[in-house]
Amino acid sequence: MDEFAGKVVLVTGAGSGIGREAALLFAERGAHVFAADLNEAGLAETLERIVRAGGRASVRRTDVSDESEVAALLAHVEREGGRLDAAFNNAGVTGGTHRVEEYPVEDFDRVLGINLRSIFLGIKHEVPLMLRSGGGAICNTASVAALTGPGGMSAYAASKHGVHGLTRVAAMENAARNIRVNTLAPGFTETPMVVANGSQNPAFAANATAAIPAKRAAHPREVAEAAVWLCSDRASYVYGHMLVVDGGMTI
Ligand code: NAI
Repeated sequence: MDEFAGKVVLVTGAGSGIGREAALLFAERGAHVFAADLNEAGLAETLERIVRAGGRASVRRTDVSDESEVAALLAHVEREGGRLDAAFNNAGVTGGTHRVEEYPVEDFDRVLGINLRSIFLGIKHEVPLMLRSGGGAICNTASVAALTGPGGMSAYAASKHGVHGLTRVAAMENAARNIRVNTLAPGFTETPMVVANGSQNPAFAANATAAIPAKRAAHPREVAEAAVWLCSDRASYVYGHMLVVDGGMTI
């Protein structure tokens, strides 16, 4: 399948988990992938795997919560790739678990900065380049926490609810300009993010899996496939949608 042949795709959080799997899938399907993350070792591994599979990629260390770094990333994409056809804004963190009254405000601001301001900055700097490219598609990663109120995770849930709000606004603003914007809402996915939490709290990990109707976590590739689809022409009439990929968790 080479549905992304000749296309330039940006993936953030591409040094690990869902973002890495999406970068690999886009590259397998012909895209020139620009992979961004804070984690340079993770990016190097993503690049190595894409190149070994015969794909094309460039990596750049970027803090997605910092506007000057996001602007520099998009300038780099335009300089090296010449255009932008799709962007998967996916970098994120969970933050701590505390009741609201105990939640440190610094951690709340940090999580909102990484999970929500990053999506605003991504859209802000991707749309002008997509317009110069004749259109495009954006997929923003939220979570099932955009639909629920997981106790203890106020910053995470607030940021992920906000992601879909931003998606809908950007979808409305850009629908007539040939740019589609959608949200991906993963459920429990086996990535370093949750594996790290699970190894700290195995009982939590076991309970989380037992509560999923499918009785298992997702492989990151199963989730990445949905992001790739939303960014592809196969989703050409899908606007402002939240695609939930959760093994039935929110049924
Ligand atoms: P992960 O931890 O494997 O990957 C996240 C990546 O984001 C890491 O490589 C990290 O370095 C990067 N990152 C963090 N802060 C950054 C920053 N300021 N600038 C640039 N990069 C930064 O986690 P995973 O699971 O692949 O997460 C990807 C997205 O999926 C996140 O937005 C997460 O909230 C979301 N998600 C994950 C779920 C899961 O169960 N794994 C469930 C629902 C949503």
